[in-house]
Amino acid sequence: MKIVSTIAEVRAQVKAWKKEGKRVGFVPTMGYLHEGHESLIKRAVAENDVAVVSIFVNPMQFGPTEDLESYPRDLEADAKLCEAAGAKLIFHPEPEEMYKDGFCSFVDMSGLTNALCGLSRPVHFRGVCTVVSKLFNIVMPDRAYFGEKDAQQLAVIKRMVTDLNMDIEIVGCPIIREADGLAKSSRNTYLSEESRKQAVILSKAIFMGKKMIEDGERNPETVKKAMCELISTMPLATIDYVEIVDRNTMKNVDLIQGEILCAIAVNIGGEARLIDNFHLSV
Ligand code: PAF
Repeated sequence: MKIVSTIAEVRAQVKAWKKEGKRVGFVPTMGYLHEGHESLIKRAVAENDVAVVSIFVNPMQFGPTEDLESYPRDLEADAKLCEAAGAKLIFHPEPEEMYKDGFCSFVDMSGLTNALCGLSRPVHFRGVCTVVSKLFNIVMPDRAYFGEKDAQQLAVIKRMVTDLNMDIEIVGCPIIREADGLAKSSRNTYLSEESRKQAVILSKAIFMGKKMIEDGERNPETVKKAMCELISTMPLATIDYVEIVDRNTMKNVDLIQGEILCAIAVNIGGEARLIDNFHLSV
């Protein structure tokens, strides 16, 4: 497995693979990889001839008061995980390689991003769409793999690929959880011992909300209220949002039917803003 830091090196390697007729799977990440990323990489390895992983903490998707500086980084551990999972190339650029002097082109989206995380993180999806477009242009993958934990991101990327006629198959992969249910996230490392204990309330609310709908509840307000009440039993939990939306448009629904996404964001102890979700076809 190679680790490269320039766009030219990625292009040369991918060009050589494509000449040999190889299909390229791609997993874009911000590093500090965990079992969730590992599942994406293994799937990319299994479904393609070669798998490329990018590790880039993208400054453009962080707001001014967010955790860009403190975002955890560990290239050595990431490289070990990628190699063991079967990846063939890591692209690990410096910000200056991705955003040259004078950079002023952006990929932006309306609608889908004016909901859920887009409301509390106003610059986030413009940064994600811009960097993912750039990475797609650099890696030229046949398939790209994203976790369902970032459900809105997945919907946004699928829409972007359709709208901009990018010839890339977007594959969503299931959420991977800790033994107690907490969704795996690089940001879980921010949690103190007490916050980590209380963070389990996110997945408890998710499992309860899902069961209410599976048992026949169709009023989104009833489900959301029950989830909020459960989350509020934890003194360190501050709810950002608990919403039930159409899975494709991210618009709120009055009745639970069709393809729905229930998504939550909760701040735990002022240490980490965590997200979780479930989707159902009703
Ligand atoms: O999900 C992430 O880790 C990031 O948003 C992504 C897709 C790598 C873009 O920076």
